[in-house]
Amino acid sequence: MRFQTETIGDATLYLGDALEILPTLDRRFAMVLADPPYCSGGTTAPERTKATSAKYQSHENRGLYPEFAGDTRDQRSFLAWSTLWLGRARAVALPGAICAVFSDWRQLPVTSDALQAAGWIWRGIVPWDKTEASRPQQGRYRIQAEYVVWGTNGPRPLAGSTAPGVFRMPKPHRKHHIAGKPVELMEGLMSVVDGPVLDPFMGSGTVGLACAARGLDYVGIEVEPAYFEIACQRLREAGKSGTVTASADWGSAPAA
Ligand SMILES: C[S@@+](CC[C@H](N)C(=O)[O-])C[C@H]1O[C@@H](n2cnc3c(N)ncnc32)[C@H](O)[C@@H]1O
Repeated sequence: MRFQTETIGDATLYLGDALEILPTLDRRFAMVLADPPYCSGGTTAPERTKATSAKYQSHENRGLYPEFAGDTRDQRSFLAWSTLWLGRARAVALPGAICAVFSDWRQLPVTSDALQAAGWIWRGIVPWDKTEASRPQQGRYRIQAEYVVWGTNGPRPLAGSTAPGVFRMPKPHRKHHIAGKPVELMEGLMSVVDGPVLDPFMGSGTVGLACAARGLDYVGIEVEPAYFEIACQRLREAGKSGTVTASADWGSAPAA
């Protein structure tokens, strides 16, 4: 099967379903950095199956971004689907590679189940603290964090630089996707790897920009043509304007 692809600098972007594209990749990756559709945004089926804009955006922001795909699975099918793609991603991961998967609080248990069912060794959870800029809730706790469930493809040597175990930064002011993440967050997460990064759910290409800033090869996959185009455009523009410079020195050498 042939897929539409774009090569931009050291990045290769695929348009299509990650489940179909992953088995066709011949490269091996040092990291899988995935921000899949959470299939969340509610605790009941009718809430979960609403449009992504209705689930994840306030009224005043509706219509700002295209809808995105794959966000209506219930928990059992989310577990089955996550196990499938995580297994296919592991098949193209180097020994010792890191797999880091975003999740919200509702899908946290099922995401760590899927990671392990797919054969990755579960190593921990890195919270992304979105700061007090997150919307408060009267009489309740602010929903202020998302999470990165991470593991490795078999043993990983205790060597190289270290990275933070919690990232504190607000959501980006200017997003390119309903669920867009900060480029700096992606940079921090990949600061402990020095090889190619695979991003099976590319959205607006945030992980690709972080790879460009850190000089890492990148492969991104996106099934929605509108977001595929947005990602291509962001990467082309960043390449042209030369704005892709590393935001911070996240990693630090371990104490001797
Ligand atoms: C949470 S978003 C990623 C947002 C991204 N991190 C950003 O900052 O822009 C998940 C993306 O995965 C895409 N997607 C859903 N199912 C997919 C599939 N089977 N294969 C590839 N992409 C898929 C969605 O269309 C959506 O754009």
